[in-house]
Amino acid sequence: MSNQNPPNIEVASGSVDNSADKPWGGRFSEPTDAFVERFTASVGFDQRLYYHDIQGSIAHATMLASVGVLSDAERDQIIQGLNEIRADIEAGQFQWSVKLEDVHMNIESRLTDKIGITGKKLHTGRSRNDQVATDIRLYVRDEIDAIAAELTRLQQGLVALAEREADTIMPGFTHLQTAQPVTFGHHMLAWYEMLCRDFDRLGDCRKRVNVMPLGAAALAGTTYPINREYTAQLLGFDRPTANSLDSVSDRDFAIEFCSFASLLMIHLSRFSEELVLWTSAQFNFIDLPDRFCTGSSIMPQKKNPDVPELVRGKSGRVTGALISLLMLMKGQPLAYNKDNQEDKEPLFDVIDTVKDCLKAYADMVPAIQVKEDVMREAARRGFSTATDLADYLVKRGVAFRDAHEVVGKAVGYGVKTQKDLADMSLDELRQFSANIDADVFDVLTLEGSVNARNHLGGTAPAQVRLAVAKAKAALESRRAG
Ligand code: ARG
Repeated sequence: MSNQNPPNIEVASGSVDNSADKPWGGRFSEPTDAFVERFTASVGFDQRLYYHDIQGSIAHATMLASVGVLSDAERDQIIQGLNEIRADIEAGQFQWSVKLEDVHMNIESRLTDKIGITGKKLHTGRSRNDQVATDIRLYVRDEIDAIAAELTRLQQGLVALAEREADTIMPGFTHLQTAQPVTFGHHMLAWYEMLCRDFDRLGDCRKRVNVMPLGAAALAGTTYPINREYTAQLLGFDRPTANSLDSVSDRDFAIEFCSFASLLMIHLSRFSEELVLWTSAQFNFIDLPDRFCTGSSIMPQKKNPDVPELVRGKSGRVTGALISLLMLMKGQPLAYNKDNQEDKEPLFDVIDTVKDCLKAYADMVPAIQVKEDVMREAARRGFSTATDLADYLVKRGVAFRDAHEVVGKAVGYGVKTQKDLADMSLDELRQFSANIDADVFDVLTLEGSVNARNHLGGTAPAQVRLAVAKAKAALESRRAG
């Protein structure tokens, strides 16, 4: 991200005669300083809005013709010219110019070159201030829909993995210390749940993105008899915005989007941290296929989990962009200020980063290979059924605090003798409480432990299967709705 201009942009070498070059040059008596021209230009990064800029202009021209401000012939000429420009841009045949500052003036100026005086009528009743606000909303709306689809693909992968591993036992952790056995499927569904909240937040954000600022013009509205409902309808917006001053200065929607994205990235970062731990020799719980990993140039044995590491790292830049946008807005009086031009680079970077990270995860998750035996052994070794033993004693009339004490002593004995609870004989266990009988081994097994947590939201394989069925139905209804 920088104010460097890409190579496809023409930059002035000296100063320029504004009256000839700039659409706003009329009142200026000296050319813009060449550095200032570059410093204030946004075309280097906002050209990616070209598609939505043209979409907005076509709707605007259509509306102007419907209220008689343009003739039908003028409208048709404008639309044809804009469509040709779009084709030129997509064919890489459009010469962007820094002299023309931004995507809006580049396209408008080219339109006038193409169709003459009629091109100059397109900007009737609008300003770049409502134009750019509209363009970003159209652009973000499309990206939201693409991100929602990718998020859904990742969630489908998680649900499929959860179903495949519904019975697989692993240690569950608190404080990263072995706590109680859980099922791998249950663990995957925890990630699914987080992403459901992200999906909902994205949908909520979309509602506030999908309103149309066009018609606010520079800040106060316009003197032409515009029909904003019609333009909004043409562009698929839910409605026009309600206040012209707010319309041109509001960037809440971009902040909300980056806030959604930050939370999503924090979730992916936590997920990444687990994958990095789990692929280490110390945990050795899972394997990631080679195609998602890289090696070391010096240590031949290395297989590094680069994809999760990078996703974890990229959460930083997304959160940084959120803070940039918040600070960008902090001191701005109404209405539009040039500061707002700075909204684009962080926003675009967030969109690119989130799409890449979601793609990487949606591709990688279904390919996670689970090492069932290692996880099972780790759960068995860590006294993970100690709570089950305490619960067993409580069911036999022992008060929970006393049961806790008894089990604590048994664990202490196990640490000394290097035996897990399930490895001890009945006589060994009975040293700690006479309430223990042979049926204790039903709860000390890993299966006994997870199967006992058989309630809504619990880790029992039966519950995982129910949760998978619900998740599948929810994902299916997303497609329908
Ligand atoms: N390039 C500007 C932006 O990104 C477009 C709006 C400029 N408006 C103006 N009055 N200078 O915000």
